[in-house]
Amino acid sequence: MSDVNKNAVEHTLIEKITSLCKRRGFIFRSSEIYGGINGFWDYGPYGVAMKRALESLWWNFMVETRDDVEGLDSTVICHPKVWKASGHLDKFGDLMTDCRDCKARHRVDQMDDKTACPNCGSTNLTDPREFNLMMKTFVGPVFDEDHAAYLRAETCQPIFVDFHHVRISTRQKLPFGIAQIGKAFRNEINPRNFIFRSREFTQMEMEFFCADTDSMKWYEYWRSERIRYYKQLLEFRDDEIRIHDHGDELAHYAKAALDIEFAFPFGWGELEGIHHRGTWDLSRHQEFSGESMEYFDQETNSKFIPTCIETSVGVDRTMLAILCHAYDEDMAETQKEGKEKDVRVVLRLPAKIAPVQAAVFPLSKKLSEPAKKIHEDLREHFRSEFDVTGAIGKRYRRQDEIGTPYCVTFDFDSVEDGCVTLRDRDTMEQERVSAANIAEILRDKLDK
Ligand code: GAP
Repeated sequence: MSDVNKNAVEHTLIEKITSLCKRRGFIFRSSEIYGGINGFWDYGPYGVAMKRALESLWWNFMVETRDDVEGLDSTVICHPKVWKASGHLDKFGDLMTDCRDCKARHRVDQMDDKTACPNCGSTNLTDPREFNLMMKTFVGPVFDEDHAAYLRAETCQPIFVDFHHVRISTRQKLPFGIAQIGKAFRNEINPRNFIFRSREFTQMEMEFFCADTDSMKWYEYWRSERIRYYKQLLEFRDDEIRIHDHGDELAHYAKAALDIEFAFPFGWGELEGIHHRGTWDLSRHQEFSGESMEYFDQETNSKFIPTCIETSVGVDRTMLAILCHAYDEDMAETQKEGKEKDVRVVLRLPAKIAPVQAAVFPLSKKLSEPAKKIHEDLREHFRSEFDVTGAIGKRYRRQDEIGTPYCVTFDFDSVEDGCVTLRDRDTMEQERVSAANIAEILRDKLDK
């Protein structure tokens, strides 16, 4: 395929996903009636169900099923000195340039030809200048520099600041980690590629504290755990993710760093960073706050600042990767049905994060009551939806499009034989199963 055609296909896919997300209430532009606001996205009913399921999956994997990682939920705004200590206020930015002709603004590191505007080709560009990505606000009634504060640019800094609180209250000893899921804000120059790069986004970060001598062992451990998560839980294929090792391009305090990248339709992009952060963050907070960030190790009778291994991933970026992985158009079925243009759009989402896990339909409105009863029982255990409108084929298609793994249809025979039809999204196979055992049957299937 030529590069031009390949680009067209890739663009079509991201456009199709964006349009599906808007049409079906997953994700749409914030404040759209006012023309939208660049880099901000709202999650609608199916989007928020999927986002919460994804966050729970990560939290369960990283915190709940372990004894050595604790949780935290800190504020978005913290003392401005936190960002002075972390280095964000002095150096957290990109070089940007403006095109004097078409007025487009660009990140210099993203321009192939640094002398020409990627939008209109003009060479009439301003000199590159530093642009800080921190979002500024004011705390209290007076809007001056003494009352300036910042929305956090990463969720990990409060983890470092709260290190001793968490350690002492949980009686944790090294090695142990602290995890947090929450909003982060960056005044990105060029928000783009749908939710890949936004100005407000959610991060899932874990900082694992250990002795420096063990740090590379833990770095390797977290690298393999995080790959296991993507392959086993999110079902990403080998050709969809890869590791980009930073090699020698490291911060002076770090011993190693890598990105886990995903094959997005617009090219390989960073999904998660795994960073050896050395003692940098705790040392800086010790220096700026005047409080000791040292740990006393009873076994070796020594005091030291722990070394930190970080795993950091964006929820929104993971959502986009999952949607790209899951989006499919089922031509085989449509050809079988002889309706070539009637493509079946299906999201092959892992059942654990599908916004609806089971949809229940009465074949006819007359059967609504017993079918609704099944839905009400199922929603105690799963994310279940009841749909009574339209032909049954249309209802299946609507569920395929939002990734519902199973549909349950209650028909006129169900009244007599106590069975319902269970339809599988991926194989489209249908089987008659006992209505009384449907929750158990679904549990078996969803747990696989
Ligand atoms: N604490 C380390 C840190 O924040 P980062 O590489 O800047 O490192 C980590 O961000 C992850 O957060 C990225 O891999 C990406 O998944 C997500 N992320 C960063 N900036 C983002 C943005 N503007 N929009 C959406 N997600 C973003």
